[in-house]
Amino acid sequence: MPLPNLHTIEGVLARFHDDLYAAETAHDRQAVRDRYLGRKNSILAEWMERLAAAAPAEKRHLGQLTNALKRELEARWATFTETQQATAVPADAVDVTLPGRAVRLGHRHPLTVVRDRMDEIFARMGFTFVEGPEVEDEWHCFDALNMPAEHPARDMQDTLYLSAPFPSFEPGGRQRTMLRTHTSSIQIRYMQSHTPPIRIVAPGRVYRRDDLDLTHTPMFTQMEGLVIGEGISLADLKGTLLAFARAMFGEKSRLRFRPSFFPYTEPSAEVDISCWSCDGAGCSMCKKTGWIEILGCGMVHPAVFEAVGYDSERYTGFAWGIGLERVAILRYQVDDIRLFFENDLRFLEQFPY
Ligand code: DAH
Repeated sequence: MPLPNLHTIEGVLARFHDDLYAAETAHDRQAVRDRYLGRKNSILAEWMERLAAAAPAEKRHLGQLTNALKRELEARWATFTETQQATAVPADAVDVTLPGRAVRLGHRHPLTVVRDRMDEIFARMGFTFVEGPEVEDEWHCFDALNMPAEHPARDMQDTLYLSAPFPSFEPGGRQRTMLRTHTSSIQIRYMQSHTPPIRIVAPGRVYRRDDLDLTHTPMFTQMEGLVIGEGISLADLKGTLLAFARAMFGEKSRLRFRPSFFPYTEPSAEVDISCWSCDGAGCSMCKKTGWIEILGCGMVHPAVFEAVGYDSERYTGFAWGIGLERVAILRYQVDDIRLFFENDLRFLEQFPY
């Protein structure tokens, strides 16, 4: 379409109209106005110059036209700015068409990432995930696990005792209420309410009277495992833990079982995993030994079966307890356990989602 002729009033007005509506900002609109109505270098100014230069015979007619153009341009500009103001969006208006502001999503705590990963691995092996109370009675935490009052093994697990009595009443032992020192108490609770076969993992917080340092906090997290059935052997224990270690730390992982003592297992072992940083060669992470201790385990002691009323001639089983911070520390090479509990986002945000 040919552009309107700037030498006719209609032509100029049509162009003025188009340019004004094409302008996107107030600044652009002002510039359009100046281009048509400005004192200098404007279309109107050109018309004035033409008028000045016109032959006397034409002046009267041209003068009327120029005045008409000026009046029209001014009138249109006035109408235009009025409608602009009427339809302008108030400064405090809400523009419902704007895209939303993205919500910043948090992510799982590194210990939760580790716990979920472990849970997933054991779920694939047919384990059920269970939980137990953090406020526990002495019987579930110690007595039923073959640690009667005055047993020296209790010394390593001193904790906070509470004055409020625990609602349940269990056979034997004094019913003192306490913060559980390990997740092994969940073994007892589960066995009391279920019959074999049993295959569970039980994660949770535990509490001990420990001073804060790089590797100790008075509260930490464990995951307990318990398998009970007929004919369960030490080979099953080793196979299960090896499968877990390979899934968690890589296919090349090897395990080393060292004889140990826990009152609730016989035999008992502490388990080391080949260092995945140096694959057993010796590095700073494994303190040059090639091995890293990760858990305690053993075959469930007959006294434990008797405490929960199981036939210890019929059933055998194995159990283990693993520290989740320990797994996370080793997996992510964290050098201070306290970081897990300080809730500093600069730390927490460094872990895979
Ligand atoms: N309860 C032990 C601890 O807190 C860990 C443990 C060792 C759990 C051997 C077990 C086990 O189930 O069989 O250090």
